[in-house]
Formats: sequence, C-alpha cells, structure tokens
Amino acid sequence: MASDRPLVIVTRKLPDVVETRLRELFDARLNIEDKPFSRDDLIEAVKTANVLVPTVTDRIDRAVLSQAGPDLKLVAQFGTGVDNIDLDTARNRSILVTNTPGVLTEDTADMTMALILAVPRRLTEGAALLKSGSDEWQGWSPTWMLGHRIFGKRLGIVGMGRIGQAVARRARAFGLQIHYHNRRRVQPDVEQALEATYWDSLDQMLARMDIISINCPHTPATYHLLSARRLSLLKPSAYIVNTARGEVIDENALARMVDNNELAGAGLDVFEHEPAVNPKLLRNDKVVVLPHMGSATLEGRIDMGEKVIVNIKTFLDGHAPPDRVHPAMF
Ligand code: 8YV
Repeated sequence: MASDRPLVIVTRKLPDVVETRLRELFDARLNIEDKPFSRDDLIEAVKTANVLVPTVTDRIDRAVLSQAGPDLKLVAQFGTGVDNIDLDTARNRSILVTNTPGVLTEDTADMTMALILAVPRRLTEGAALLKSGSDEWQGWSPTWMLGHRIFGKRLGIVGMGRIGQAVARRARAFGLQIHYHNRRRVQPDVEQALEATYWDSLDQMLARMDIISINCPHTPATYHLLSARRLSLLKPSAYIVNTARGEVIDENALARMVDNNELAGAGLDVFEHEPAVNPKLLRNDKVVVLPHMGSATLEGRIDMGEKVIVNIKTFLDGHAPPDRVHPAMF
C-alpha cells in the first residue's frame, strides 16, 4: 500500500538513531546493508523519491538528475562537500540541494592535525615496524627513526573556512606559524586571533612553507589547484596534508615527486579516484594514507544525520531549510 508520507531514499547505512528518526518522520527507504547504489539504483531513486539523501560516494550528475521524476524536490546531502552533485542541473530543475556544514569541522581539523604530526614524526612508520614483528628495533638509538620538528615551522593553509580556521587554532598550540591563502581575506579579528599571515599569491606562499594543509572545497575552480607546476614550487623539505578532496591535488604529480625526494612527505585522507589509491603512494613510507576518515566519529555522523533531518523536515513543512547550498533558492 502506498504511503501518504513523503518518500525519502537514503543511499547508505546511517547511524541507528538517525535511521530510527527518519523512519518515524518519513516513509524512509533505508540501505541497511550499506551496499553502495549503482548508477541504475540512483536513477531509480531520483525517479520515485520526494527527497534523496546521498553521500560523497554517489555521483549525482547531469545524466542522473535529468531522469528525476516530478516529485523529487530536495537532495539533502549527508556531508559538507557537494562536489558529487551537479548543482547547476539541480538548480535548473528547481531541485533544492542542502548539506551538513559545521558539525564535522572539529573532527576533520583533529584528523588534519593528526596528519600534520604523524608525517614529519614518522608515526605510522614506527608503529608499523613494531607491529610487523621485525627485529629491526634493537632498542633506543640516538640516530634512528629521526623525523623533523614541527614547533616553529610555517604552516600554509589553503582554504581558510571553518575547517581551515579550526586547523589553525590547533596548529598554533603546537607552535606552528600560521599562513593562509583564501579566495577572500578573512576578517581582521579572525586573522589577529590566529596570528595568521595572509598570502594573496598562492604560488608565493607555497614556495615559503614547511607544511601545507589543504582545507578548501573541491569545485571547478579548485580542481588540481595544486598542479604539478604549483607542487614544484614547494621546498623539497616540505610536507603536504590533504583532508579536503583528492581532486584538489594532481595526485600523480604528488606521488612522483615524493618518490623522487622532491617533497619530504604527505598525509592524505582523500584521493583523486576514491576508493582507488595511487600504488606509488601506498608503497612510499613517507606517505601516511587514511581511508577518508576525517569526519568518522559516531558523534559527528549522528550530528550530520540530525542536520539532514532538520533540512528535510523544514523543507517539507514549507520553510527554507537552513543549509541550502544556493541560499537564494527556495
Ligand atoms: C563525509 C566529507 O564523510 O562531508 C564531507 O564533505 O568529506 C566527509 O567527511 C562524506 O563526504 C559524507 O558524504
């Protein structure tokens, strides 16, 4: 029997409390087995749903959206980045898109800081060595497993939004000097509080930093922002950390440069062709890799789910959902 409640199709398994609430409020079609949707599944979903709840793993492109049925009015992304969604096509078809900003800022900044520490201090190398059962460790030695100090070094943040600022707050406590490049200079009081130096020229900043942290969204304007040319501006002693989106860095160029000792190392939580990871990166001890875990806390994922629910509920009640990606649309 058809339900008279709005059909909300959720593409991935979400935390139990979120799914329970979704069921209470809507005719929620959940993905309990967490099997990623195929392209056909996505097309079927947009044809029938009133609301689609996708994640970063779903490509909601023009071809998918052009098959949307007349009832699809809202795409409520479970996530902050919306680079998996063709926003122009959604807008042209009057489909509202919302996301979940704010609630994963601190978790993602924590993971960024963990990589900023892990790469220069060779944390995963040391840990893996002991766990491997190798007898290489014969006790403490003054010259073994030496990394590099981060205190006093220059951190260049690319993208000084919420997450970039949260990284800067942490990094200051570790004695790093904060530098940043952003489309727009941040407010003077924010800059002052972070003792942050603004660089209008990304190229000039890159050439002078010890560690680079990528914290900008992936958009057409930031695709390969860290191109082979820009990566070559970095000092060979520099490290690069990316918890934003793999597409912002030319991954092949990065892998080649670390292999050739043109860069000191990298800490990567995201990759250009997820879930594939360039094998050169996997093989290189100077590269710490994580499987897109920046926001992977139970608390964070519940908060994200609650944001999704608020966005859907306000929309269905006829109000403007708080997290509209195009604020002018409603
Ligand atoms: C999410 C993220 O886990 O929200 C984002 O933009 O990168 C991640 O932390 C994922 O994207 C959910 O869609």
